[in-house]
Amino acid sequence: MSDWTAICRIEDIPPLGSRRVARERGAAVAVFRSATDRVFALLDRCPHKGGPLSQGIVFGESVACPLHNWSIGLCDGVAAAPDEGCTPKFSVQIVDGVVHLNAAELATLGTDLPVPMAGPQTRKIAA
Ligand code: FES
Repeated sequence: MSDWTAICRIEDIPPLGSRRVARERGAAVAVFRSATDRVFALLDRCPHKGGPLSQGIVFGESVACPLHNWSIGLCDGVAAAPDEGCTPKFSVQIVDGVVHLNAAELATLGTDLPVPMAGPQTRKIAA
């Protein structure tokens, strides 16, 4: 098994937007693209009440949760003060414009957390 799983090309993620990557177990992963083409990946689950961060507004290197507007750092998944909490962050590797996520993290990270009840359905990635 490869250490990294190809997800999509950078340009497949809208600038200041995201793409959801469904998994066999656990919540999906939200892959974000900043205005400067940096790419980040967080569990698609707000640390507040589980809102779908992939549906939030990306600004700078943060995303505003669509449910109650908490600001979550894309680099580390940490909620900006005065809010408190953290959502798991996934490692990202870009090779020749293709976004890869770490395969071990995809299989295990955050799989013990409840899946959000809101957000669109997406196809699962190939195993
Ligand atoms: S669920 Fe994200 S701010 Fe409340």
